[in-house]
Amino acid sequence: MRIGILGAGRMTEALAPQWIRAGHEVLIGGRTPGKAKELAERIGARVGTLREAAEFGEVVLLAVLHEGLEPTLAEAGAAEGTLAGKTVIDCGNAVLLDGYTQVTWDGRSMAEELARLAPGSRVVKAFNLSHADVWALTPPAFDGRPLTVPFAGAEEGKADARRLIADLGAEPLDVGDLSQTRHLEAMAIIVIRLLFAGAHPHSVFTYLSPDRGDAPAPA
Ligand SMILES: NC(=O)c1ccc[n+]([C@@H]2O[C@H](COP(=O)([O-])OP(=O)(O)OC[C@H]3O[C@@H](n4cnc5c(N)ncnc54)[C@H](OP(=O)(O)O)[C@@H]3O)[C@@H](O)[C@H]2O)c1
Repeated sequence: MRIGILGAGRMTEALAPQWIRAGHEVLIGGRTPGKAKELAERIGARVGTLREAAEFGEVVLLAVLHEGLEPTLAEAGAAEGTLAGKTVIDCGNAVLLDGYTQVTWDGRSMAEELARLAPGSRVVKAFNLSHADVWALTPPAFDGRPLTVPFAGAEEGKADARRLIADLGAEPLDVGDLSQTRHLEAMAIIVIRLLFAGAHPHSVFTYLSPDRGDAPAPA
């Protein structure tokens, strides 16, 4: 499928090549055109503006810092409907590193705020709980077992999220609706704190499904 990516940082660098390898077409749009172009050329993706990435994608990945949520969506034309009817995967985390406190939007998560700012979109949060170095693994597997990737969000976007997680060679785990993204974002703060304390990216919360098969979803 066609994947538009908003943001040209480390998460894009880790995830986009995986999806290109899986046969998807990827267009990267970035705030800083030169940076997006350099990355796109290096990994064999197309490049464009943020708006072009939003329009190109059947599925769109938002991969920006939380400070960039509003300006990125504005430049991508979200208010004018460029993301309407599309699955938008949000890998972002909203944390102030000074003190490890969560950033919210009147108590709402980044993913919920994204859904508000991009009317008609189907927002799913995924990929926020592991370091970019984990997403760059081909496949992300530990002890020979695939990483389990929790995701939450709009029901209509979940099939796309499952597919893109599976395309990495990882196992999708549905943990709920958009309201549950608040917990995914809070949980990531623990991960980030451990990483900043020096833990190896491959060692922190690398969820594995039980040997018997699919990990059970929470009741
Ligand atoms: N890195 C990880 O291990 C990791 C893991 C899980 C989740 N995440 C989350 O995924 C998201 C992307 O992370 P990343 O590591 O790819 O970050 P990054 O390498 O720092 O890249 C961030 C992207 O956001 C853009 N950006 C930053 N501030 C902005 C602003 N104020 N306005 C508009 N755009 C802005 C940057 O634009 P420029 O291109 O102009 O710099 C860049 O394209 C973040 O929310 C992060 O918390 C990261």
